Amino acid sequence: MSLIWLKSKASMTTQSSWTVPVTALAETQALGARIAEALTAGDVVLLRGELGAGKTELARAVVRARMGHDCEVPSPTFTLVQHYETPGLLLAHADLYRVKDPSELAELGLDEVLETGALLVEWPERAAGHWPQSRLEVALSLRNDTRLAALTGHGAWADRLIALKTHNNNA
Ligand SMILES: Nc1ncnc2c1ncn2[C@@H]1O[C@H](COP(=O)(O)OP(=O)(O)O)[C@@H](O)[C@H]1O
Ligand SMILES: [Mg+2]
Repeated sequence: MSLIWLKSKASMTTQSSWTVPVTALAETQALGARIAEALTAGDVVLLRGELGAGKTELARAVVRARMGHDCEVPSPTFTLVQHYETPGLLLAHADLYRVKDPSELAELGLDEVLETGALLVEWPERAAGHWPQSRLEVALSLRNDTRLAALTGHGAWADRLIALKTHNNNA
């Protein structure tokens, strides 16, 4: 019993990280394609960063890579959630900037999406504490004309992020 406890305690604290330069739009798109390839049902990707940091652009890249073409991917600033029927996976792109109270989240149906799909969330801070322990977080920043994406894999995503980082590294 204590062994199980130790294991679960270890998995709770497991995380990995990877920082990628994304100054060029092509780099943002390449990162989006990598994330898109790794996504499966139940996945939560939190996109953090200030206004203009590139959260929507990265989400757009993920959606387009999964769709296989340059479909329109508007910012969900006003609709709050956009849904995409990508091959084999429902993808929901949410922007919680305008959410004032976490209780509003239930109406957005994000938890239902996770039963068959994956979630990309801008401004996850608006619903702090709502997210599963296993998740991929991407903190985007823009400083002195340099854009960076700092990725952190939590829980099961710790190993998956390492795989994502090493997979097709030279492609
Ligand atoms: N390498 C890049 N990665 C992401 N966005 C970029 C890049 N280069 C230029 N941009 C531009 O910067 C802006 C980022 O805005 P957006 O993705 O809407 O940010 P956020 O959703 O974080 O507010 C867009 O106008 C986008 O076209
Ligand atoms: Mg945005």
